[in-house]
Amino acid sequence: MIVRVKNLVKRYGELLALDHLSFTVNDGEVFGLLGPNGSGKTTAINCILSLLEYDKGEVEIFGRPMRPDAYDIKREIGIVMQNVAVYNELTVYENIDYFCGLYVEDKKLRKRLVEEAINFVGLKDFKGYYPKKLSGGLLRRLNIACGIAHKPKLIILDEPTVAVDPQSRYKILEGILELNRLGATVIYTSHYMEEVEQICSRIMIIDKGRAIATGTKDELKAMITLGEKITVESQHITPGQLNRLRALPHVMEAEYKNKQLVIKSGKGANNLEAVLDFIKKEKIQYGKIYSELPTLNDVFLEITGKQLRD
Ligand SMILES: Nc1ncnc2c1ncn2[C@@H]1O[C@H](COP(=O)(O)OP(=O)(O)OP(=O)(O)O)[C@@H](O)[C@H]1O
Ligand SMILES: [Mg+2]
Repeated sequence: MIVRVKNLVKRYGELLALDHLSFTVNDGEVFGLLGPNGSGKTTAINCILSLLEYDKGEVEIFGRPMRPDAYDIKREIGIVMQNVAVYNELTVYENIDYFCGLYVEDKKLRKRLVEEAINFVGLKDFKGYYPKKLSGGLLRRLNIACGIAHKPKLIILDEPTVAVDPQSRYKILEGILELNRLGATVIYTSHYMEEVEQICSRIMIIDKGRAIATGTKDELKAMITLGEKITVESQHITPGQLNRLRALPHVMEAEYKNKQLVIKSGKGANNLEAVLDFIKKEKIQYGKIYSELPTLNDVFLEITGKQLRD
């Protein structure tokens, strides 16, 4: 086990930012911490790393208790903070070299590691640039390179893709998977459910500092009653038809708004077929019809009653 967090409690005055948060991260995982803005992701990361004092709870990393002075543990961790933290008076190369130098003294080895990190995040053509000259996406990539150049066993990234262009986003996500394939365990926080679905092997959804569900994306989707969402584009649906639709087996909800009929069905086979039969029987005119499987937003919505997105 790489990380074990038990009953973590963190208060900011009256505000309970972490409410008995517990979870474990296993060797080789890409563990996702998914939650809306203000749910406590950064606070959790800072407490785990002993960068912030907490009120209660236990944190173990690599099987040892984590403390502010546990430098032997810290040197095996790569941290990529939510707010970019690089030196403006140093170039791309010098920045990475500086951060890598905090852990690696050997100059020759460090040169290799810095070059590797530069290639890894795709900043080869920008080695001599100062951070101010980099676009937002490239600056994020530099921030990541500074955190991972020393090849840590555990990499923690706090929303590394906020406000980056699609190309950098792709590069960053691919890079994280590559680091994982090379052996690193990863903790990744985000409020983008698509990203978390794409790269995380296990996900903990948090809200108001509390874990509301943990599992693989399929396990999370299996926890809720929603099985699929069927949308029918139609110019006209009568209230009577809507009511008869709601009486069909498995139908949990049926709403007609903006010329779209949206039917939420429970788990089960043939939901779409039942809707199609109904449409034919009632002679409803329609345009497109499509069915969507639940998303992590649906999981969040069903458990908390709110949207994951703001
Ligand atoms: N230093 C602080 N003092 C007081 N309250 C704080 C402090 N830092 C965070 N908070 C509050 O604690 C809660 C959790 O904040 P945190 O930054 O951990 O959330 P987050 O999930 O990382 O959000 P985001 O997605 O915006 O980064 C929020 O309500 C926030 O306003
Ligand atoms: Mg945060």
